[in-house]
Order: sequence, then C-alpha cells, then structure tokens
Amino acid sequence: MRPFPDLPEGFDPASVTSGAFGHVDNSPFSAQMIAGMDRLSEAQAVVELRRWSIDSLSLHAGQRALEVGCGPGAMSLALAEAVGPTGSVNGIDNSGLMVEEARQRSADYAQVQFDTGDAQELRFGDGEFDACYSERVFQHLDAPELALKEMLRVLRPGGRVVVVDTDWETVTIDHPDAATTRKILNFVTDDFSPNGWIGRRLPGLFRDNGLRDVSVMARSLLVSEWDPATEPAAIGPPFFVVLPQAQERGVVTKHEADRWYAELEKLAREDRFFASLTMFGVCATKSP
Ligand SMILES: C[S@@+](CC[C@H](N)C(=O)[O-])C[C@H]1O[C@@H](n2cnc3c(N)ncnc32)[C@H](O)[C@@H]1O
Repeated sequence: MRPFPDLPEGFDPASVTSGAFGHVDNSPFSAQMIAGMDRLSEAQAVVELRRWSIDSLSLHAGQRALEVGCGPGAMSLALAEAVGPTGSVNGIDNSGLMVEEARQRSADYAQVQFDTGDAQELRFGDGEFDACYSERVFQHLDAPELALKEMLRVLRPGGRVVVVDTDWETVTIDHPDAATTRKILNFVTDDFSPNGWIGRRLPGLFRDNGLRDVSVMARSLLVSEWDPATEPAAIGPPFFVVLPQAQERGVVTKHEADRWYAELEKLAREDRFFASLTMFGVCATKSP
C-alpha cells in the first residue's frame, strides 16, 4: 500500500481508531480532520441534511441554540443566521483545536460563543435552549445515549432537537472482490467504529426518550472520484489505518488486503471509482 505522504516518523497505524475523533488534539492528523470536515461541508448530501436540519429546528429571531461537537463551527454559524443578532448560539467541542478554529472563523458573529466541553456532560442549566443540534458526533462517543439525554436536559419543553449521524453499514464500494470488501466494511462497522449502527439507532433513541413529532431523513454521500496519492481515505476512515488493523485482528490476510487495495487504486486511476455512505437526520420536539 502506498504510504500517505504526511505520515509522521514512526507512525503506528494501530494507534488510530475511529475514536481518534474523540481526541482530536492528540492526533497527528488534526489538520487533515479539519480539512476533511470542510470538504464534507460542501458535499451535496451534507448541504441538504443541514438545510433540512435548520428548517426542522424552526428557529426564530432572538432564540437560543446549542451545537454539540461543533468542529470548526460551520453549522453554529448557520444557526446564528437563523436566530439573528438578537439571538445566541453556543458551540461546544471537546477539542481545543476545533474550538480555536471555530472562534477564528466566527469573528463576524457576536452572537456565537465557542467553548470546550464534553457532549456527555454539558455545562448548561436545564431548559436553557430553544434548539439543540449535533452532527456526526454520536458515532465517536462512549455513551451516545447519555449525550442525547444531556441535550434534552438543556432543551426547554417544546424545544426542537436534531441529531445527524452516519450508519457505517451503509457504505458501498464497487469492487470486483465482494467477499473481501464485505469483510473490510464489516470490520469498519463492527470493530473499528464505537457506534457503527448509530445512524439507524437514532429514531429509536429519540422515541425511547419520549420525544414527539419524530421525523427522519436520509441522504447518501456519493464519491465517484478518489486520488489515492493525496487522499488517505476514499470514504470513511483511512485505508492505511483500517487495513493493517484488519490484518492484525485476522479479518483479512496481508495478501488479501494488498490485493484489494491495489485493485481499488487501479479503479481510481481508471476513473472507475464509486462508493457511497448514508447519513440520517432525526428531528423531534421535547414534550412539554
Ligand atoms: C466528525 S467531527 C464533526 C464536526 C461537526 N459537527 C461537523 O459536522 O463538521 C466530530 C466532532 O466531534 C467532536 N467530539 C468528539 N468527541 C466529543 C465529545 N465527547 N464531546 C464533544 N465533542 C466531541 C470532535 O472533536 C469533532 O470536532
């Protein structure tokens, strides 16, 4: 497998897990993570999910909104547009680097404040917010159920909540070796991701918490171009991390992994690459 050009000296692929997004500040790839989020912000699937989320939150001027796991803050700024200068938005993230990046990008928005904080233990009082939002964060958490309970605690009765996340078992990759593809993708879903099925679990989690007016939407990210020389990941976690770990766990042999990756690279070079991934958005109202 061709090594990713920016790998630091002595890099150990086993040191990176999907949980890396839970500890961005310790990762040698934090800059790539931010760049990846910026790229995703432009993908049609994400643009449409975010538009649906903003519409579903039904925000008005002067209201107060919270984004949990805000990353570099793109959606917090969209929430700020919705509540206007008389409203306010709090964005929290457990990464100081993300919070710093978000602060730099929000200089023109006096109504937005970014702070570090843990999704599973919010530092806000009960019922403080009119709307709460979280996108592609629950998949990285030890206890996504607790994060939802915390969002609902700080939401006022009648307030609206949206959680968006990926379901890793929805990944498709067009590859002639279906058996190896399935083994690798099942490994990503079941063993690499702490909450690989979180996308499909969200509607049930919402109902378990007594939420009403639950609505669900889904959009698929479609990837038909991939440059293996510059992009470590075509879709999902980087192959240079996933494939060695899958070998270590006995999911695939080195020969299978090398052959599978070489074929994928060949398809990409021949402009024949295609992969997809489905994300779900769930919206509901907190009962009075
Ligand atoms: C895939 S990024 C998504 C960021 C942003 N929501 C977006 O859609 O661009 C996941 C984010 O969750 C943050 N995160 C991970 N674990 C967290 C936790 N326990 N509490 C708060 N934020 C967390 C990461 O630092 C990262 O910014």
